[in-house]
Amino acid sequence: MDKKKLIKYAKIAQSRAKAPFSKYPVGAVLLTENSDIILGCNVESKAYPNTLCAERVAIFSAIAQGYSKFKSMTIITNDGAKPCGGCRQTIYEYARNIKIYIMNQDGIIKEFQSSKLLPFPFD
Ligand code: THU
Repeated sequence: MDKKKLIKYAKIAQSRAKAPFSKYPVGAVLLTENSDIILGCNVESKAYPNTLCAERVAIFSAIAQGYSKFKSMTIITNDGAKPCGGCRQTIYEYARNIKIYIMNQDGIIKEFQSSKLLPFPFD
């Protein structure tokens, strides 16, 4: 997928975040093996620990829809943050070694393989 389209989808995903407590919306675009697009956003709960990160929402949603092989994940925040530890483990377990694009509001600021995120995974 071209970068312009990726950025468009990432912004749509981030706009769907439910983050009334942290005020930190996160969007994720998971690209499947055959280039289908699965969006994720963080969804927070009044019972705080129920909150789910955007990356895991995207991966769990893709699994529920029958996908199991992926090419890349794009993660957008307002400041270009990288995935949390829990999401790194989930990416490792269910997406294996994929391309990660990190975005802020200006566009893609970093790209690397997910193996770099979690060099010593629990396995
Ligand atoms: N969050 C994500 O969606 N992904 C991460 O990798 C880290 C944090 C969310 C959880 C919470 O809704 C907000 O960002 C602040 O932590």
